[in-house]
Amino acid sequence: MIIREFGFRSFRNLEDATISPGPGVNLVLGENGQGKTNLLEAIWLCTGARSFRGAKQAELPTFGRQSCLLEAGVANKKREIKLTISLGAEKFTRMNGVDLPKKADFTGNLICVAFSPIHLGLVSGGPEGRRNFLDASLCQSSRKYLDQLTRYRAYLHHKNALLRQEIGEKEKNFLLDGYDEKLALYGFALKETRRQFLEQLAEESLLAYETLSGGKEKLTVKYQPGAKAENVEELAKELKAARMTDLKNLSCSRGPHKDDVELLLDDKNARIYGSQGQRRSIVLALKLSEASLLERRTGESPVILLDDVLSELDNRRQDHLLNRITGRQIFVSACEEQKSGVLAEGKNFYVKEGRIGEKPF
Ligand SMILES: Nc1ncnc2c1ncn2[C@@H]1O[C@H](COP(=O)(O)OP(=O)(O)O)[C@@H](O)[C@H]1O
Ligand SMILES: [Mg+2]
Repeated sequence: MIIREFGFRSFRNLEDATISPGPGVNLVLGENGQGKTNLLEAIWLCTGARSFRGAKQAELPTFGRQSCLLEAGVANKKREIKLTISLGAEKFTRMNGVDLPKKADFTGNLICVAFSPIHLGLVSGGPEGRRNFLDASLCQSSRKYLDQLTRYRAYLHHKNALLRQEIGEKEKNFLLDGYDEKLALYGFALKETRRQFLEQLAEESLLAYETLSGGKEKLTVKYQPGAKAENVEELAKELKAARMTDLKNLSCSRGPHKDDVELLLDDKNARIYGSQGQRRSIVLALKLSEASLLERRTGESPVILLDDVLSELDNRRQDHLLNRITGRQIFVSACEEQKSGVLAEGKNFYVKEGRIGEKPF
């Protein structure tokens, strides 16, 4: 799929405008602090996901404004659609001008894979980042997963609130039984989907890493589930067996919200033993594999957003990213000096103090 037109109003430091990206590589060039990441973040938000920078909605509208509006004209294999999203005080999502009462109906219409320096935390950071990576990818390609995740999170929230409440033991246990039943149902569904996804991701990323690194080491991606159970009934039992721990910790101790993904290079934990360059290559391999899996699952090639990653990559990897990935729309932000190393044919956008133009300012 490709974004044909992209418009933004009152978004961060960007001056209101509509741009027409090209179908291949789009270079977003400018000095630091001009608005390059803001533009990529705005595109990403049209997937319906939260900001890849971890920004809160209130931070998105231009200083002094309450809301911001983003509009993407997207051409996928079947049709052209117009996606509109308003974030901040006034929230709504529209498709072709028609209000979508549920945000879940908006998700999945624009499919993106984003790669920014923040994503390096996928290897070096805690498990939450790795779970977010799984969820962001799976929610874009499966409405069912998004619904299951939403329900799971809601029941988990209720359960944790209940654990903190001071009510009679009998009543508490009765209510907890009810929540555990739901958590087992949706939790097991999440676990199965994540397991399958990671199996495919492991295969893809093994090859991707080999290509990127020239076959020096072997990347292994392993699912570490936060519950052992092999079916819903077993998970229900596992949750029940953990009741004492839950009551002691005042939070639910088992289930997919405790999942992690192990990343090994030649059987050694990359988080601990990997060099900076190796970790960077792992994240890149995971992201490129994510793009292939999304394409396999949805039949649409995702739009790739590469924020500020060129300087982090050597020429071989830069070349691989920009010149070997064909048939995909890519947005790449970079400082002007880095452009010399970039061979890609495509369209240039220049960003200065929030203004975006097709010619240098
Ligand atoms: N809500 C906002 N309103 C106005 N300006 C903002 C807002 N949020 C961030 N900015 C400004 O955006 C600029 C950073 O833009 P960014 O896209 O990160 O730059 P870069 O080109 O380096 O990627 C900073 O000057 C920052 O003050
Ligand atoms: Mg930036």
